[in-house]
Amino acid sequence: MTEPAKATGAEPILEVRDIVVDYPGHPPVRAVDGVSFELYPGEVVGLVGESGCGKSTMARVITGLLKPTKGEVLYRGEPLPPLTARRRSPKYTGIQMVFQDPSSSLNPRRRVGSQVEDGLQAARARAAYETEEGGVAVGAGVKELTASQWLQRIGLSAQAAGRYPQSFSGGQRQRIATARALAARPSLLVGDEPISALDASTQARVAGLMCQLALEQGTSLLFISHDLSIVRLIADRIIVMYAGRVVERGRTDQVWNDPRHPYTKALLGAIPAPDGSGRMPVATPTGTVYPRDEISH
Ligand SMILES: Nc1ncnc2c1ncn2[C@@H]1O[C@H](COP(=O)(O)OP(=O)(O)OP(=O)(O)O)[C@@H](O)[C@H]1O
Ligand SMILES: [Mg+2]
Repeated sequence: MTEPAKATGAEPILEVRDIVVDYPGHPPVRAVDGVSFELYPGEVVGLVGESGCGKSTMARVITGLLKPTKGEVLYRGEPLPPLTARRRSPKYTGIQMVFQDPSSSLNPRRRVGSQVEDGLQAARARAAYETEEGGVAVGAGVKELTASQWLQRIGLSAQAAGRYPQSFSGGQRQRIATARALAARPSLLVGDEPISALDASTQARVAGLMCQLALEQGTSLLFISHDLSIVRLIADRIIVMYAGRVVERGRTDQVWNDPRHPYTKALLGAIPAPDGSGRMPVATPTGTVYPRDEISH
């Protein structure tokens, strides 16, 4: 785990300020209710919380896929333009996302090798753009891997490159989507439950690998998960959401060893002792209501 750049006085790569998201309906659904946080270069932050608490909604806001009802997202200190059908400027391909459902993000008609190649091309285009602007691209000093090598690093065979997404399992597709995102050498990678389709024994290994590969190239990682026991292994900091709000945040060891909020305590209590290998409950038992006051360490 890295020393948070906050301590070194670096500028945040991502600032999320007072985000509110209402989905239309009668009445509208308030999915996110005033969330603010920052992510610093090279940091791994775990965003955890029960099903329906607003994690994927936050991921879509951060990557520009969804315009918030209120609030703003700053990427490298500037407002993030909305993602449109037009190709995104190389300036913003530094933000990559692994979606919760990889079947919707991989093109079924293209071989997976060429889809990972898209990531490599995005990295090259951004490196050229950064050089023109007088900056340095993330991972500039790191050796470029081929699409097959990326697939191998994430645990698939080199032959995988020649096959189509349908011939892979859900967990393998998640890994292909992760390889494509990492190949783009993002400065910010948002992983929305990137290991949820993997079996328990593979989850920790892939999460660790994802974290290691991101750190190798200086990527900041926002890792969204139900599973606090996995997040604990890789995150520098943890943010806990409940019913659209942040109810607790702090350094991983602090949140794990000394949780302040009753919901966090309930989450930790749900992990079977002594090995901590259990999973969070998908939802709190019906009728449980926790105070939503924010606690910041
Ligand atoms: N497109 C939509 N239209 C209306 N309501 C939505 C939409 N997407 C999400 N919601 C609602 O917003 C809330 C937050 O959803 P979100 O998908 O962000 O939760 P989540 O924390 O990612 O859950 P999970 O862990 O199950 O993936 C939920 O109450 C959900 O029903
Ligand atoms: Mg989700």
